Amino acid sequence: QKEVLAATPPMGWISWNLFEGNISESIVMELADAMVENGLKEAGYEYIILDDLWHGGRDANGKVFPDPHKFPNGMKVVADYVHSKGLKFGIYTDIAEYTCAGMVGSLGYEEMDAQTYAEWGVDYIKCDYCHAPEDLWTGIERYEKFIKAVRATGRPMVFAICEWGQRAPWLWGAKVDGQLWRTTWDLRDTWEHGQYNNGHNGIMEALDRQVGLEKFAGPGRWNDPDMLVIGLNGTGASSSANGANGCTVTEYEAQFGLWSLLSAPLLMTCDIRNMDADTKRILTNQELIAVNQDELGKQASRIHKDGAEEIWAKPLADGSWAVGFLNRDNDKKRKIALDIAQLGFDGQVKVRDLWLHKDLDFKPSAPIKLTVEPHQCRVVKITSIK
Ligand code: GLA
Repeated sequence: QKEVLAATPPMGWISWNLFEGNISESIVMELADAMVENGLKEAGYEYIILDDLWHGGRDANGKVFPDPHKFPNGMKVVADYVHSKGLKFGIYTDIAEYTCAGMVGSLGYEEMDAQTYAEWGVDYIKCDYCHAPEDLWTGIERYEKFIKAVRATGRPMVFAICEWGQRAPWLWGAKVDGQLWRTTWDLRDTWEHGQYNNGHNGIMEALDRQVGLEKFAGPGRWNDPDMLVIGLNGTGASSSANGANGCTVTEYEAQFGLWSLLSAPLLMTCDIRNMDADTKRILTNQELIAVNQDELGKQASRIHKDGAEEIWAKPLADGSWAVGFLNRDNDKKRKIALDIAQLGFDGQVKVRDLWLHKDLDFKPSAPIKLTVEPHQCRVVKITSIK
């Protein structure tokens, strides 16, 4: 039996939103240390992923090499260090001549790059689509060709397709053996961005675009609404440039709750070397991580929407449901009610609040009614106790 790659959504840290090009060997090493020392590894985070701008160029034989100023000892040393901490290492490329930030892409070098990554000890490849033709077939063909080359190396490397949901990758991403695919433009550190400002999303726009995609997710095939902005607090290099100046703690909690329900990859982007208490509390909420990593691998669907109030529900392997009660209103709190018969429960249930970490009191026959603050997403787990 072949091992399923990314049987549960990948968890880790990725460099783009905070650092853009300010990455280096020492930063990766410090982050790997922080991942272990700050309890994130123990909480389940595994990958350290270098996004765009690590590249130097190609040598006379066409072999890609990292920027010698940022990575003076080469990339294998970096990957080895990450592995020595019991973590995994990821890297970024693009399926055209250039990456989004203008570095060398992998087009025409698929086999060579796959081989090089395998030599370095790469465990995860994020592959972008900038500078590639718009049409669907070129997209499918190019990814298929590259992923075949990656599989031919024999090294298990998770492959993350990043064409921003423009060519419905949920329909073909798993067929070409990608494990996850971005469903949206880049997410910025903000609750709502209005009219997809410059193609950038806030948390709410990314969320809306997941409606209807739940049927395409499962073990080894995930919809990716982009990185966790939790804890950036307005410091992200790629966010501040777009007028995305950070979220409140309640909003960051909402992203974490929703991304857990959506079975989204949990890729942190904040500076995990210096987390404040709220950031750490949110990112290491074990009960929500368990929802995200549930082995059934179902993605939540939106089962109720009435103006600013929404309910998102995700079935879990043990027969219980994780349910998010979201209030998108900017200033009014709301009472949001759920009739649990809607989820197929017909007897006594237990309702556990996954933020408060306690069982809630409620009348078994009545609907579950929760008071939800503006921009809050309360998440409960409902379990039958008959
Ligand atoms: C694109 C991707 C981002 C990031 C940048 C890097 O915009 O969608 O996630 O990788 O490129 O240049």
